[in-house]
Amino acid sequence: MFINFRRVRKCQFVQLISMCCVLSVLMVCWEELDHHVVSHVKSYSYRYLVNSYDFINRSLSVSRREADSFGRFPYIIDHENTCVGSDVLLLLFVKSSPKNFKRRHSIRSTWGNYTSLRQKLGVTVKVVFVMGIPADGHERSTLQQKLLAEDEIYGDLVQQNFSDTFHNLTLKLLMQFRWAHARCAHARFLMSADDDIFVHVPNLVRYLQVLVQQGVKDVWMGHVHKGAPPVRRKSSKYYVPVQMYQWSSYPDYTSGAGYVVSRDVADKIYHATLSLNASLHIDDVFMGMCANMVGVSPQEHVYFAGEGKAPYHPCIYEKMITSHGHEEDIGYLWREATAPEVNDVSSGLLGKLYCTAVKMLLLCKPYFSNTYPCRAAFS
Ligand SMILES: *[C@@H]1O[C@H](CO)[C@@H](O)[C@H](O)[C@H]1NC(C)=O
Ligand SMILES: *[C@@H]1O[C@H](CO)[C@@H](O)[C@H](O)[C@H]1NC(C)=O
Ligand SMILES: *[C@@H]1O[C@H](CO)[C@@H](O)[C@H](O)[C@H]1NC(C)=O
Ligand SMILES: *[C@@H]1O[C@H](CO)[C@@H](O)[C@H](O)[C@H]1NC(C)=O
Ligand SMILES: *[C@@H]1O[C@H](CO)[C@@H](O)[C@H](O)[C@H]1NC(C)=O
Repeated sequence: MFINFRRVRKCQFVQLISMCCVLSVLMVCWEELDHHVVSHVKSYSYRYLVNSYDFINRSLSVSRREADSFGRFPYIIDHENTCVGSDVLLLLFVKSSPKNFKRRHSIRSTWGNYTSLRQKLGVTVKVVFVMGIPADGHERSTLQQKLLAEDEIYGDLVQQNFSDTFHNLTLKLLMQFRWAHARCAHARFLMSADDDIFVHVPNLVRYLQVLVQQGVKDVWMGHVHKGAPPVRRKSSKYYVPVQMYQWSSYPDYTSGAGYVVSRDVADKIYHATLSLNASLHIDDVFMGMCANMVGVSPQEHVYFAGEGKAPYHPCIYEKMITSHGHEEDIGYLWREATAPEVNDVSSGLLGKLYCTAVKMLLLCKPYFSNTYPCRAAFS
């Protein structure tokens, strides 16, 4: 048989080169792959095969005195009477930072204006901005003066004496549940939100009113993270050393950007915080650990955003609850999303078909999984 040696060699050469390329790419990316793929596979398998987090109870329990010491910072700004004498449907904590004056101002004049919410919706929503003290020692006293002046006008800040830093977010979580327990335990629902999110409060209130009518308990809803692995890359701000959390998977939790719990759950979480080691700095993961301990699991609500920004469209506005990453456009979004016309857009069969089509176009793109999942188009 006639064999073309030159051809074979050429083929093999090409194969060899491509093999080398693939190998070197693999080697260069191996660390990333190792971190991302391997840890996710491990963590998802754990989540779906074992799904027991009893070790949290066993390993992270501390004495009441030790647990107390994590959250025992004196209040510098406090309001004892925020909830007194009113039937509070929703106590809404906004996790803010001392320097974010502008964000607080935007929120107060839009979705956090409880005077106008009371007038329009006929329910009581209380908005409280929670924070620590300015982390930068140089600016501390001037910023603090400005905060006191701001609180003089609006009376809606609550501040504890700990440094307001990313790594102290769990202290802010403890503060919210402790403050709610002490000052607003009768609020029917409690929400925790970042100060750069948009909350469609009218939609949320309508949803909560239905839950109240049905007498629903054990509510913890938001954008759910299932079987998330701890990040072991030292450069990440979510880095958690093995000594702090040695297992391959976190219990399920809702994104800290915005979630809602019912009164009974808030109470249970409060009690869990009294017996857990709160040194894990990722506040939403810590919340998941507390909930796991008291047997509460999160429920996915498709219109709570994780990281992403919701598309601008009336068909979205009609259903949306939260959207992340808003600062400049809060005023615009508030006007657009709460305009009376929004409720008409999907009325009738044609309207429904139209909105389903629009939402499929906006949410079901393969490369886009940021805000609401594709199935939100059909709900
Ligand atoms: C909140 O709404 C009320 C009533 O609609 C209005 O008078 C007030 O100026 C608003 N507050 C802010 C901070 O915009
Ligand atoms: C806050 O804590 C620091 C020490 O951590 C202390 O020096 C300061 O007096 C405290 N401030 C208040 C108002 O309690
Ligand atoms: C958290 O706050 C405490 C009290 O102000 C401070 O001593 C500590 O350095 C802060 N931790 C981080 C990681 O910022
Ligand atoms: C809490 O956990 C941290 C990190 O794992 C550990 O260093 C600390 O000693 C623990 N605290 C208590 C009171 O057990
Ligand atoms: C966790 O442990 C506490 C006692 O330390 C116990 O009361 C509680 O029921 C346990 N929770 C679970 C889910 O096992």
